Amino acid sequence: MRVHEQVQLKNLNTLNLNAMTSHYVQINQPSDVIDALAFAEQQHLNVLILSGGSNVLLSQHIQALVLHLNIQGIDVVAEDENTITVKVGAGQVWHDFVLYSTQQQWFGLQNLALIPGLVGASPVQNIGAYGVEVGEFIESVQVYDRELKQFNSISPQDCHFAYRHSIFKDHPNRYIIVSVTFKLLRKADLKLSYGDLKQAVGDDQTAENLQNQVIHIRQSKLPNPKEYPNVGSFFKNPILTAAEFDKISQQFPNIPHYLQANSNVKVAAGWLIDQTGWKGKQLGSVGMFHKQALVLVNYADATLADVKNTYQTVQSDVKQKFNIQLEPEPVLYSEQGLIQAHHA
Ligand code: EPU
Repeated sequence: MRVHEQVQLKNLNTLNLNAMTSHYVQINQPSDVIDALAFAEQQHLNVLILSGGSNVLLSQHIQALVLHLNIQGIDVVAEDENTITVKVGAGQVWHDFVLYSTQQQWFGLQNLALIPGLVGASPVQNIGAYGVEVGEFIESVQVYDRELKQFNSISPQDCHFAYRHSIFKDHPNRYIIVSVTFKLLRKADLKLSYGDLKQAVGDDQTAENLQNQVIHIRQSKLPNPKEYPNVGSFFKNPILTAAEFDKISQQFPNIPHYLQANSNVKVAAGWLIDQTGWKGKQLGSVGMFHKQALVLVNYADATLADVKNTYQTVQSDVKQKFNIQLEPEPVLYSEQGLIQAHHA
């Protein structure tokens, strides 16, 4: 394990924010976690866990030890007639793992193709797209528990998966995910209920085609971070109570919405932002993408302060028009490397 000093993280976060950290270490195996934590304790440094950097907002100057998760490996640990159980290192690239699973004829993750980031981050916000959430296919999550000071395996029930949420969000600095174990299907059970996915897939109802259609839809709407630095959806879709939704839908009958199991209603943040005129609009070097208003883009060397300036203005415009408070999706880190609450 080698600790580097003064490392620029600009190319390690997909929003390309300038972020210089005082200390940085790459984690290539679970035991490196122990060594890195001992170093941090000795140097009185907080620890910032960096995965694919596709859902983080980093400060320009960070005084902390950045642990960059790079644990590799895809191992089949069990199989039966209907399922295959596979343990995947936290540092595997998510999309590559999805492609590999489809190639192996392991089914379930095809709707989640092309989501940026690494496998280890997938349970944290319970990544979801096109009617599937990763939590449905997680058998267990292997972590280092910083409170109990030991490695542990967490069951999906104990992960408390919900929309863009899990126990890892409730206890942001407690767990370091080293691998994720998935239970995938050996017979395809295609999930085609989301939007016009069924139409896109058409008669060729194979997992390969489903995966390709998801890739195609994402590419047509979502900017490639290499061309337009971004972190995917910048805000969560707000969840309203039935009463709140009734009120707003009287005034705005066209508001796109999805009924939730508990009679709450999820509304489309992208639409709300679009309606305030922010689609394709910039404030300084940061703006909302012209094809999908939910995606914030760094158009030119922005800092965290520039990003905040834009997204807080978007929040306040949406609040003024719809009386809805948008909540950012990416995780915000302080200069001390700690996860912070977003302020309105
Ligand atoms: N809409 C607009 N204008 C826009 C954008 C969207 O009017 O600029 C409308 C669309 O016409 C549609 C509705 O808003 O009626 C919803 O849009 P879309 O289907 O594109 O999905 P989304 O709600 O914007 C969510 C996830 C995505 C995920 C897609 C597909 C969240 C915050 N976002 O987006 O996740 O890929 O559904 O399942 O839940 C991500 O988390 O980074 C992400 C991309």
